[in-house]
Amino acid sequence: MVDSPFKVDALSGKVALVTGGSSGIGLEITKQLGVHGCSVVITGRRKAVLDGAVAELQALGITAAGLQGDVRSADACADWVATTCKMFGSIDILVNCAAGNFLANAAELSQGGFRTVMEIDAVGTFTMSRAAFEVLKQNSESVIINISATLHYGATWYQVHASAAKAAVDSITRSLALEWGEYGIRVNGVAPGPIRGTAGMSKLAPGEEASMEQVVTAAVPLGRMGDKGDIALACVYLASSAGRFVSGETLVVDGGAWLHRPQL
Ligand code: HXC
Repeated sequence: MVDSPFKVDALSGKVALVTGGSSGIGLEITKQLGVHGCSVVITGRRKAVLDGAVAELQALGITAAGLQGDVRSADACADWVATTCKMFGSIDILVNCAAGNFLANAAELSQGGFRTVMEIDAVGTFTMSRAAFEVLKQNSESVIINISATLHYGATWYQVHASAAKAAVDSITRSLALEWGEYGIRVNGVAPGPIRGTAGMSKLAPGEEASMEQVVTAAVPLGRMGDKGDIALACVYLASSAGRFVSGETLVVDGGAWLHRPQL
């Protein structure tokens, strides 16, 4: 785990619910929230992966629980909120990290494939936020963080579905920040760039992670790929009082990668 510049009690006493928290970026975010004082609940579809992640969190001394289910189910989202409140009393921080993706040529992608990614990323982010709203609004300083991407800033090959979904996520971030600000709920996003060791990298460049690392590194102004900890610390910042006047913003954490264009 990356060393944190934040105080260890920066999020002391808070309760965080992280969808898609059992692996990859979601698990790293959960670890950082936990070591800064949160009790954490993670959700995921695969029981064995969920159980392994909870054990990893507990080994770090974090109070953690895992809830199985699919963010595409409104009933599952409602149940996660109710169960988290039953276990830990409330929810202060919601991280919408559950996502689905694959490479697909737009001319061959089925309606079902497009719809699936929209339903996991965009509809799931709304459904989960909506399910948590009544609980979040009871606290004075609640936070929602939506994990996005930079795919849609220009256009990305074979990512018509994920680009549309993440554009919708960014829009949801702004709309909820506007409507829920009066309840003290801050709503922000984090848009990761190329992060090593993630499902995003292995799915989008299968078997080519090593050569992709070289290609990507050459294109990133800061000269390296990101680590999961880079995303996790951005979330700690947004969740903490350091971000107390930030709402409706999607923070790009990509070493400047999306700015890069090859010379024409
Ligand atoms: C084309 C595909 C496909 C593929 C699935 N589909 N995989 N189409 N190419 N490789 C289509 C199916 O044909 C079907 O369409 C529809 O999608 C649903 O497929 P299912 O397999 O039934 O869906 P499901 O089992 O629910 O799985 C969802 C999934 C899967 C998204 C397809 O990959 C998944 O569960 N992923 C979760 C983990 C994940 O992907 N994490 C990575 C996130 S990375 P029809 O027409 O038959 O109904 C990320 C980073 C983004 O988000 C930024 C990157 C830089």
